[in-house]
Amino acid sequence: MRRLEGKIAAVTGGASGIGEATVRRFVAEGAKVCLADVDEERGAAVADELNAAGGTVRFVRTQTQDEAQCEAFIRAAVDAFGGLDILVNNAGIRHYQGILETDNTTWDRILGVNVKGYAFCAKAAVAAMKKSGGGSIVNVSSNRSTAAGGNMVEYDTTKAAVIGLTRGIAYDHARDGIRANAISPGPVFTRFHEKRAAALGKTTEEFIRGFGQGGMMKRPARPEEIAAAILFLASDDASYITGINLMADGGISAVDPDSLNTWLQQGVTAS
Ligand SMILES: NC(=O)c1ccc[n+]([C@@H]2O[C@H](COP(=O)([O-])OP(=O)(O)OC[C@H]3O[C@@H](n4cnc5c(N)ncnc54)[C@H](O)[C@@H]3O)[C@@H](O)[C@H]2O)c1
Repeated sequence: MRRLEGKIAAVTGGASGIGEATVRRFVAEGAKVCLADVDEERGAAVADELNAAGGTVRFVRTQTQDEAQCEAFIRAAVDAFGGLDILVNNAGIRHYQGILETDNTTWDRILGVNVKGYAFCAKAAVAAMKKSGGGSIVNVSSNRSTAAGGNMVEYDTTKAAVIGLTRGIAYDHARDGIRANAISPGPVFTRFHEKRAAALGKTTEEFIRGFGQGGMMKRPARPEEIAAAILFLASDDASYITGINLMADGGISAVDPDSLNTWLQQGVTAS
């Protein structure tokens, strides 16, 4: 039995990385999917490939910081497929800088995509879900929602804000049969890191060296592993779960780095 048979889903940032893996998994599980992205070429290519393989997928070019475009995206899903059961807010951007480098323009840009874009899509989705008797919203946050990693003060701020947004929606719309949950991935190797490595003049191997080493599992996630956790929260398997922040971080948030250092100083190594 496919876990999203007959469901209608909207996924933002679906042309790459975690969002693309989520679109692919949702289609494999029987959902009809509308995906939004600024990247027209890749978004259309993902939709074309999945449709050619028998899926039902629509791509809508969308800049999620624009409320009217978010409304049009959700409306496109409803008009094409007849309703909306699932929204995955995933489109996100990063800036690498500390508080002294921030300015109003970069704050507006990152808050616009990472927070207001989620809220705009959620607003339109909640209205649609209320009409069809309920639904599930999954907001992709980050392990940076609960822990700082340095030099990303704006990003960290937005990812913490996503948790508040999620709880607010969950509280207000539980009575409408709508669940809202956040997921906080740890390091996941995606196209974003390929671009970042190139910008820094590094190979991707050099750039991702050390990725995930602070967690128990000592490796980054594959996008498909995060998509599987998103699927769980989106599906009826999570029917009694709302308002949570699911850490999908290979145990990073569960490690006490101080105790790890103490053990290492004593010459005790992890097996
Ligand atoms: N990769 C990681 O290590 C990691 C870890 C924790 C959380 N996350 C979060 O997961 C989400 C996806 O990240 P990813 O690594 O898959 O990134 P990615 O860069 O591979 O994919 C993001 C997609 O979002 C699209 N996008 C960017 N801005 C947009 C906008 N304004 N409107 C519409 N689409 C837009 C991009 O074109 C791209 O296709 C982000 O919210 C990110 O913060 C990623």
